[in-house]
Amino acid sequence: MRSARGEASPSLALIKYWGKQPGSVNVPATTSLAIGLEALRTRTSVRAERESGSRDFTVSIDGVRQESTPFSTTIGHIRDIAGEASHPWTDADLLIESHNNFPTAAGIASSSSGFAALVEALCAFFAVNLSAVKRSSIAREGSGSAARSCFGGFTRFDAGAYAARKIYRADHWSELRLLVAVTDAGAKKVSSRRGMESTRHTSPYYTSWVENSFVLAERAAQCIAERDLEGLGVLMRESYLRMTGSMLGASPPVVYWTPESVALIRVCEELRAAGVAAWETMDAGPQVKILTTSADLPKVREAAARIVDMTFESEVGGEPCGDLDNTQVRTQEEQS
Ligand code: PMV
Repeated sequence: MRSARGEASPSLALIKYWGKQPGSVNVPATTSLAIGLEALRTRTSVRAERESGSRDFTVSIDGVRQESTPFSTTIGHIRDIAGEASHPWTDADLLIESHNNFPTAAGIASSSSGFAALVEALCAFFAVNLSAVKRSSIAREGSGSAARSCFGGFTRFDAGAYAARKIYRADHWSELRLLVAVTDAGAKKVSSRRGMESTRHTSPYYTSWVENSFVLAERAAQCIAERDLEGLGVLMRESYLRMTGSMLGASPPVVYWTPESVALIRVCEELRAAGVAAWETMDAGPQVKILTTSADLPKVREAAARIVDMTFESEVGGEPCGDLDNTQVRTQEEQS
């Protein structure tokens, strides 16, 4: 038995990626800026019983067996690199199990941490030593936002780029906190992949969303550099609301919001009017993510609890990691 593990955190976009370059594998049409969520984690293990195999694999997430297609590019890509290095386990049949400590496929970026953790675990399993940029590029093929989860801290993923990059470590702005208010923990009905493509093909607002996104990204990058939360918050709202505008213009419209999402947006407005830092953002799902400070977090927590039962809180962080389970390798070597 050979076994390896990988871990990563969701990448929460402050300035959104929504739209792909035509004909590409998840190459973004917009520039995004994001933070890694330290407290939220995907943990993935890759195991094989024996070296020889037929390159088969199974994937389960939180105990639920998944369709293999979404994972085959990522797994095939790293296997090919292992094959070039003649790694003995290249063709092994893999058992892949992944667990999230937060709801899966509900718009909390589980695909970003999922593919980043998978890449980490596969690299460890096949003893493939790749740079973070190369890992980011491979993770992108599974899910665009996963390119950012390969770093942690503050990241930037430029339009047209194949990989994301880290712009600051988490301690650049250590008082930031993010509260995720879960309005519906069920899996979403329209995946971000489908919602994005449908917006690109059918929304008359798509082109102006993409054009405007560059202005927002440059101004927001400046605010992050200067740790200007109010400036950043205003731009965050413009980014997610304009992204939502492009979705609503699609045919059929892509609508993820619930009444509780709207109630939380109002709560944030009230908090800000009372001088509390509470800057909300949303993604391809009904959850509302609120950026605040460690000092204001208790007030945000209390206000969110009036609307929802489930919340998650996090600092910025979420460095990925991966390693081989040496105990099991040694046991196998001892046996042979
Ligand atoms: O990479 P995907 O398919 O998970 O798409 C992510 C899209 C958003 O979460 C809505 C925005 C973002 O930049 O993460």
